[in-house]
Order: sequence, then structure tokens, then C-alpha cells
Amino acid sequence: MQLREPGRCVIGVIDGGLSGATGRYVKRLSDLSGLYGDAAAFAAAAVEEGGDRIVYEVQDYRPSGATGDLIFGVTRMVPGRIGREYFLTRGHIHARADRSEIYTGEAGRGLMLMESPSGETRIVEIGPRTVCYVPPYWIHRSVNVGDGELVMSFCYPADAGQDYGIIEQAGGMRQRILDDGAGGWVAVDNPDYRPRPQARIDALFAGA
Ligand code: NI
Repeated sequence: MQLREPGRCVIGVIDGGLSGATGRYVKRLSDLSGLYGDAAAFAAAAVEEGGDRIVYEVQDYRPSGATGDLIFGVTRMVPGRIGREYFLTRGHIHARADRSEIYTGEAGRGLMLMESPSGETRIVEIGPRTVCYVPPYWIHRSVNVGDGELVMSFCYPADAGQDYGIIEQAGGMRQRILDDGAGGWVAVDNPDYRPRPQARIDALFAGA
């Protein structure tokens, strides 16, 4: 039995950093093509000055990918909208769909937009010190509905993996989060959403 060493990281609440992180990636606006409902607004945003800016950044501490191990980290998303739609992460279901996840708000104001395989939506509002439990089998995406950066820490099983295709194959998530014009947000149905075939849903629950 080879023991792993304990770890220690410090979350940068303001800058969304993670000291001691073992990995980092960023998503720029150009990486998020096709995710937003308003394609014309996306195209316009992509060519304005600073258009291809970083929308979100993830730093994590990943000791291993072994079953029973954990991955944790910090995500930071800048504020903004494409048309009326608030900035969002790409979103995923876990490749091992029965794996859950915890997100904790560190700074800013956001939402966890969740969708079951059969298309039920749940939305959890996240502020500082809010802990959000994402149960097994729920597709999840975070949305920055605030004026400042949204910083959240997260933790999930190391063998969970991510399946990003599940959202794309359905024409997006069933609901989109828009500016309500009064400083808040509103969830509206996505007209491009196509319900998943029952066989696909059954396969997810069967672990296929
Ligand atoms: Ni996840």
C-alpha cells in the first residue's frame, strides 16, 4: 500500500486562485461558441475589443483519479452577458453519472442550473458561504448573475469524469438564465431543447 501525502491549498477568495493547485485551465469566449441563445450577440461580443477574453478559470488539486479519492478546486467566472443571457460555464454530467459534487460560494452571486436526464430543472442560488449539493445524475452548469466575479470552490469524486456532450446533444439545457431587466434574473425555456430519448436516459441510470 503506497500512501499518498496530505495536501494543503489556500483559496483566493478575491482572485479565485488556489495556492498549491496541480492543474489550471481557462475558457475564453471563443471556447464557448454555440452555448448562448443569441448567436448574433455572441458574434458581436467576439469581435469587440477584448472580445476573446477569459470568461472562466478553474484551478484544481487532483491527487489521483482513483475511486475513493477526491478532486477539489476553485472556479472563477467574470461578470457579463451575451445579449440578455448571463455568462455560464459549459456544463456537464459526470461521466460516471452516479457521482455527486459540492460547490461552495466564496464571492459574488451565482446560480447552479441543474437538469435531470428527463429534463426537470432545479436552480440553486449561491452566495458567499452557500453550499450547493449537486446530486448524482444531475447535469450542472454555473451562471454568474452578479455584477462581480463569481468565485466558488468545489469537490467531487476523483473518478467522476465529465461528459460535456450531453448538453450539446439536446440542443442546450432546457432553460436559459436571462437578465430580467430589473437587476435580477429569469429562467426561460430554450426553444432549441430536444428531450433525450428514453433509451439514453435508461442507459445513464444503468451506468452505461
Ligand atoms: Ni461536475
